[in-house]
Amino acid sequence: MNVFEGDKRLNRIADYVKKEICGYDSGHDWYHIIRVLNTSMYIHNNEHIGDITTIAMGALMHDIGDRKFGVGEKHDEIEAVLSEAGFEKPVIDAVIEINKNISFSSSDKKIEKSDELMIVQDADRLDAIGAIGIARAFNYGGFKNRVIYDPDYEPLAVGDMNAYRKSTSPTINHFYEKLLLLKDMMNTSTGRKLAEERHDFMELFLRQFYKEWKLEI
Ligand code: ADP
Ligand code: NI
Repeated sequence: MNVFEGDKRLNRIADYVKKEICGYDSGHDWYHIIRVLNTSMYIHNNEHIGDITTIAMGALMHDIGDRKFGVGEKHDEIEAVLSEAGFEKPVIDAVIEINKNISFSSSDKKIEKSDELMIVQDADRLDAIGAIGIARAFNYGGFKNRVIYDPDYEPLAVGDMNAYRKSTSPTINHFYEKLLLLKDMMNTSTGRKLAEERHDFMELFLRQFYKEWKLEI
């Protein structure tokens, strides 16, 4: 799939994003970016809110400079790349705002969200839940060499973002610390609707996981 066919300007941005995320785990690869872009477009078309250019660029740039992968903020670089590609200052500022505020670990910051941030954040969160979310969680856990499950390791208190940022919990705990909370944190009604089935699937997965763990026949 190449949504950028024929547009050199977008190809340059795609190349930049691919280069920046190449050290990330494969749950944060180019396909993740494309899924977030496609889901963002779907929500935008359904909700009729937000500027489409900002949403598209915000989706493409949302994981640039992610602290989970040991890279610092890259707002100046995002600005330079977009400005060189000919985007206007208001779009660039709005894209940086998305990049700055999208992550779950910054959800304790009380900010007024733009329509564009609400959409890209819902799309990113939808990719963290459901079957794909489960695959991504265990992939990230493997990437960081985390334990799959430790029955003696209690999940962190919900909302303790300082502990969350430092946590090295087993991957099953990540469901309680983040993934199962996302359904009720959706910004748009389209996001909420899409989250339902994906949430139920994670509940089913966890039930089956414990059933097998306890060898319940
Ligand atoms: P955020 O910055 O909001 O955490 P991202 O979309 O960059 O969001 O990354 C979230 C992805 O990484 C999700 O798929 C999530 O399950 C995974 N992830 C993050 N932290 C952990 C963790 N401690 N254990 C397992 N997966 C994790
Ligand atoms: Ni992401």
